[in-house]
Amino acid sequence: MFSSLPLVLLLSPATAVLAATVTYNFNITWTTANPDGLFPRRTIGINGKWPIPTIEVNKGDRLIVNMYNGLGDQDTSLHFHGIFQNGTSYMDGPAKVTQCPVAPGQSFKYDFVVNQPGTYWYHSHVKGQYPDGLRGALIVHDNDSPHRSLYDSEVVLTFSDWYHEQMARLISRFLSVANPTGAEPVPQCALINESRDTKVKVEPGKTYLFRMINIGAFAAQYVWFEGHTMRVVEVDGVYTKPMEAGMLYLTAAQRVSVLVTMKNGTGENFPFVGSMDQDLFDQVPKGLDPNVTGHLIYSDSNKNPPAKEITEFDPFDDFLLEPEDGEVLLENPDYSFNLDIVMDNLNDGANYAFFNEITYVAPKVPTLYTALSAGQHATDPTIYGRDTHSFILNHNQVIEIILNNLDPGKHPFHLHGHNFQLVHRSPDDSGPYNSTSLQNPPKIPMRRDVVLVRPNGNLALQWHMVSGLSATMVEAPLEMQKSMKIPEDHINQCKDAGLPTEGNAAGNTDFLDLRGENQSPGRLPSGYVSSSSIDPSHFRWDTYGQ
Ligand SMILES: *[C@@H]1O[C@H](CO)[C@@H](O)[C@H](O)[C@H]1NC(C)=O
Ligand SMILES: *[C@@H]1O[C@H](CO)[C@@H](O)[C@H](O)[C@H]1NC(C)=O
Ligand SMILES: *[C@@H]1O[C@H](CO)[C@@H](O)[C@H](O)[C@H]1NC(C)=O
Ligand SMILES: *[C@@H]1O[C@H](CO)[C@@H](O)[C@H](O)[C@H]1NC(C)=O
Ligand SMILES: *[C@@H]1O[C@H](CO)[C@@H](O)[C@H](O)[C@H]1NC(C)=O
Ligand SMILES: *[C@@H]1O[C@H](CO)[C@@H](O)[C@H](O)[C@H]1NC(C)=O
Repeated sequence: MFSSLPLVLLLSPATAVLAATVTYNFNITWTTANPDGLFPRRTIGINGKWPIPTIEVNKGDRLIVNMYNGLGDQDTSLHFHGIFQNGTSYMDGPAKVTQCPVAPGQSFKYDFVVNQPGTYWYHSHVKGQYPDGLRGALIVHDNDSPHRSLYDSEVVLTFSDWYHEQMARLISRFLSVANPTGAEPVPQCALINESRDTKVKVEPGKTYLFRMINIGAFAAQYVWFEGHTMRVVEVDGVYTKPMEAGMLYLTAAQRVSVLVTMKNGTGENFPFVGSMDQDLFDQVPKGLDPNVTGHLIYSDSNKNPPAKEITEFDPFDDFLLEPEDGEVLLENPDYSFNLDIVMDNLNDGANYAFFNEITYVAPKVPTLYTALSAGQHATDPTIYGRDTHSFILNHNQVIEIILNNLDPGKHPFHLHGHNFQLVHRSPDDSGPYNSTSLQNPPKIPMRRDVVLVRPNGNLALQWHMVSGLSATMVEAPLEMQKSMKIPEDHINQCKDAGLPTEGNAAGNTDFLDLRGENQSPGRLPSGYVSSSSIDPSHFRWDTYGQ
């Protein structure tokens, strides 16, 4: 009964825009995969297959994903990365934030309208599960794209990193006393389209839109096409004025769409390359090949040459992009706060990532469910639990976030539910944000939903609030109580799993009584000097973001 073919029903054929309902039935099960040919491993697939299907809708469509957890031994959920879920926060996917984790044998229905164009992805949002395979492309086609006349056809390319070991083991070793510096597991290889040998058939003289998505766990990749120039036209679902780029830097979770015009002759095939940024790895294992190569196939009778070695990585700076819609800088933020990124050890000996003084620990009740059950208490941040690090934000405000990376690692930052304007980004090692450095912010800043904060550098972001809830930004909870109702089947799914659906972070219905809440391990005694040094973590960002 579960098939990966989408079922499309036209709802309102009389209207100018044909909004359809697109339904996918996903049975999430273990399969076996061996994309580098070196090690067959247990991998999470959909309907018995891996790589998993691309979700495709048109802008304005209603997307329904009927998910069944057929894993048998792990919880799961699905997050649709970059989709705002305006008014449907309960469909966003992060377990313990907007829904209960879905236990083996349970089903969950995701059902929402997609009103944004462009390139997205979807993945599991339970612990660090998605690198075990549950990660795929989500494409929102748009007849009104300002770039539609500039290309002949489009190609989706995913970039990822691949581990031979399963996440459950990697994470328990990563977050352990045996790894006091918090060194992340280094992947065994890089993949394009979950393969080491992707071939794209091309026709001479034609222009292609390549939708490139980093669906990896950890590694950012440098990306380039040999002998061809790219023109960037979209980042993270935001159309941009076309800009030339010889090379891109794609952090985990970022998307960039580029136009590439093919050569007129068919005498040669050309490599395109993804190369993992090895600065992210504390130790580069001997013999690691950070590169993955695919080919533009002009003719099957040509040879597919290996990639030429390049001497320098000089990627295009996304800060220079301008959104096509010309949205100007949001001025005079109503509310501004700092998030300082640090890595430190706690008294269990493991190394944790902190925003300010807090390392995230999931609550017993999903934060959204707390907000909707708390009545007037919903505006009190303490009810969401100390370690969920909740900020209460009001409706329709302009919010500014200053991210200070006090760590020598590179960190990607993702905000659920919104795009942000990137107002300032420091070079490496410039220290925390200093508002006097913001003399000339861009008039029309680049907008996206994932950005890299440079080592010991800083960022200033602004975004405009609408409604809903995103990670631990609790947005306009009293408005939300009036307009939002969690679907009955979601409540029942929690109940079937024996999980509470109301109460504070501790599951208490006396909202001010936080006894029993989940908390991080305690602080180390003062005077302890941590041995932690380099820690560009993505895994723990996952809890907040991806
Ligand atoms: C999901 O797939 C598993 C393994 O093939 C199968 O046993 C199970 O019946 C399927 N469940 C549904 C709801 O289709
Ligand atoms: C979100 O939904 C509200 C209510 O339907 C609408 O007014 C608002 O413009 C929407 N925001 C975005 C960003 O789509
Ligand atoms: C690459 O993978 C994407 C989705 O995962 C698929 O849509 C596309 O057709 C693939 N392209 C090639 C050239 O294999
Ligand atoms: C291919 O041919 C067209 C038409 O003659 C020309 O405009 C274009 O510049 C050529 N492209 C390349 C890459 O040489
Ligand atoms: C990977 O590519 C880079 C850039 O071309 C090159 O310097 C490096 O030697 C390559 N590594 C391997 C193992 O081939
Ligand atoms: C911020 O920058 C200004 C101008 O460069 C400098 O005078 C000031 O000391 C800096 N403030 C901090 C807190 O570093």
